[in-house]
Amino acid sequence: MSDKATDKDERVRRLILRWANENPRDLPWKGTKDPYVIWVSEIILQQTRVRQGIPYFHRFLDAFPDIETLAAADEDRLLKVWEGLGYYRRARHMHETAREIVEIKDGRFPDTHEDILNLKGVGSYTAAAIASFAYDLPHAVLDGNVARVITRIYGVFNDIQSQKGKRRLMALADAILDRSDPGRFNQAMMDFGARQCTPGKPACDDCRLKTYCYAYQHDCVRDLPVKKKKKPKRDRYLYYLVIRDRHGRYWLKKRRSGDIWAGLHEFYLCESGQYVEWSELLKGLSFSPKVEVTSDRYRQILSHQRIFAFFAEVLVEDLSRVDMSPDTVVESRKKLQNLAFPRIIDCYLKDNNVNLNLTF
Ligand code: ADE
Repeated sequence: MSDKATDKDERVRRLILRWANENPRDLPWKGTKDPYVIWVSEIILQQTRVRQGIPYFHRFLDAFPDIETLAAADEDRLLKVWEGLGYYRRARHMHETAREIVEIKDGRFPDTHEDILNLKGVGSYTAAAIASFAYDLPHAVLDGNVARVITRIYGVFNDIQSQKGKRRLMALADAILDRSDPGRFNQAMMDFGARQCTPGKPACDDCRLKTYCYAYQHDCVRDLPVKKKKKPKRDRYLYYLVIRDRHGRYWLKKRRSGDIWAGLHEFYLCESGQYVEWSELLKGLSFSPKVEVTSDRYRQILSHQRIFAFFAEVLVEDLSRVDMSPDTVVESRKKLQNLAFPRIIDCYLKDNNVNLNLTF
């Protein structure tokens, strides 16, 4: 807590703030006090890098400028705006939350740390960010950038994912927090971690904090933070049949709830835990599509899985011959661009003449 702050904490706080003044970082959500805008930015940044997140932040606010428009949004449209960002649960949680806030709270965003933390999809990091940026509440953020800075300055060798490691880091983050302007300080810590005290090549030689930095003084910057090795990722092989009938109509399904891609559309899918030849795979089907062309391998790496996708453009006489009825039938290839797909399918479609209106 603040009353345990030491001389070193005091100096670290001042030097971080001085660094931030000398190295302003222009980010579009900086300076606003609107909790809705801050919430949108923080949810986008949960699993997305700043550079990738910025165009989505603008796109999202253009489409849904306030909580009322988000609450009233059609889910397909919302997912289309989010398309390509991944981790679609974030968008669905925001949608639900917006509806609750509009219906139950008369559109007023919660203004205490506890109530913010109770929102769906908001963990302690995001709650601290919103509480401090929007309401100047004294809660320290602890994300990967901040954790790296603290482990190095204070020489914390606990695994940063462990309960003990998190507790220690949180106590230190809390001790150095500037309570007179917690939002500004939190942003300064994040920016310092993102730009000065970076993972690969930290700029130690010209760092204001080096005299106070345990890792620099003990020549162990490279050893911090300590992270236990993660479990190996699960491999998934997705074989998509892009089924078209003789009228040029396409067969599509919508992924169901409880799935990372819930609400998004996809083609007819056969999934395997290992690589399978198309000829083997097609033998297992109860209908006999005419295969026109098969794709190269597409790959997407997520936090817990590696996804490999293969596509085959196939023709059937009649979509009703397919052993599963479609949720959606699209009249032409061009009209596919109106639907939201998982990124790996977007990539395939983009390579194969469906312009998905992506802005980057
Ligand atoms: N990552 C998460 N929140 C952020 C913010 N407000 N600024 C920069 N990076 C962030």
